[in-house]
Amino acid sequence: MSNHFSGGDLKTAAKLVILEEYLDVYTTILDTHWEWGDLWYVDTHSGTGKTHIDEKGIDIDGSAIRAIEDYSGFFDRFYLYELNEEHFHTLHQTLSEIFDLSFDVSPVDTNGEDFLVARCDDPYIRIMQMDSNQGVSFLADNANSTSHWFTFIDPKGLTAKRSTLDTLLDRGNVDILLNYQTTGVMRSAAAEHAHGAVRRTMGDDDWPEAASREEYAEIYKQKLEENRDIRPVLTKGLESPDDRRCRFDLVFACTNDGARNAMESIMDQDTLWEKAQDEFGQSGLSDFF
Ligand SMILES: C[S@@+](CC[C@H](N)C(=O)[O-])C[C@H]1O[C@@H](n2cnc3c(N)ncnc32)[C@H](O)[C@@H]1O
Repeated sequence: MSNHFSGGDLKTAAKLVILEEYLDVYTTILDTHWEWGDLWYVDTHSGTGKTHIDEKGIDIDGSAIRAIEDYSGFFDRFYLYELNEEHFHTLHQTLSEIFDLSFDVSPVDTNGEDFLVARCDDPYIRIMQMDSNQGVSFLADNANSTSHWFTFIDPKGLTAKRSTLDTLLDRGNVDILLNYQTTGVMRSAAAEHAHGAVRRTMGDDDWPEAASREEYAEIYKQKLEENRDIRPVLTKGLESPDDRRCRFDLVFACTNDGARNAMESIMDQDTLWEKAQDEFGQSGLSDFF
């Protein structure tokens, strides 16, 4: 049995295709046009390294593996956050095995917070076993402001707070790709006991209790666009062609028009689902259409 994060399907693969294609552009074309200092990869929900696709019985490489595999020569630092202790251990063990790395794992006591850190110095990787809402705010407050961050926010469920996003946007110097839990927000908005989670995700109480998926995605986009520097925010609704019960929207925010244009064409491409299918090692989409 796989000990990796479970629950992925075709839209998981599509999400990772978009992530990887953007990292490709970001690290090749854009690098030659932008004058940055250090570049950091920040992954707020790193998972176990791979995602188990129940329906196929396979594990596919997740965000941290993809970022380190192809871009470790480009990013000066990798900050990975994972709250679940078992997932945290699976993650550093998986990265060690795949990339032949050695992690020093130890507890850290910072300001009374007790959490585990896995450290590797070449490449520079820090995996923090903590709530990334706290961790990213701490990093934004305490690290230098000159490094440029690519930040991937990939929760399952409503665990990424809007206040964390605001902290990142206030810091600036950041590109953000976020997995907005559209169906999760819609279901939670309809259930009074879950309104606290919606409030944390949306950042306020200004949202309807019953609206469509499109409307919940649009409301979130509009809220982010109140920050003028990142207009327009891009969104891409992802529903697996074979199972439309659950939708998430990838949301992209940055201040650079070149980066935004690149992401727009990646999100709008015609071949996304074929590529996602290829991630499963199978050809053809006849099962789905
Ligand atoms: C969808 S998975 C991440 C998948 C990963 N990005 C990948 O591509 O392989 C979400 C992960 O976030 C973790 N998580 C949930 N809440 C968190 C939080 N507040 N801070 C950090 N990690 C969290 C979960 O334990 C889970 O492993």
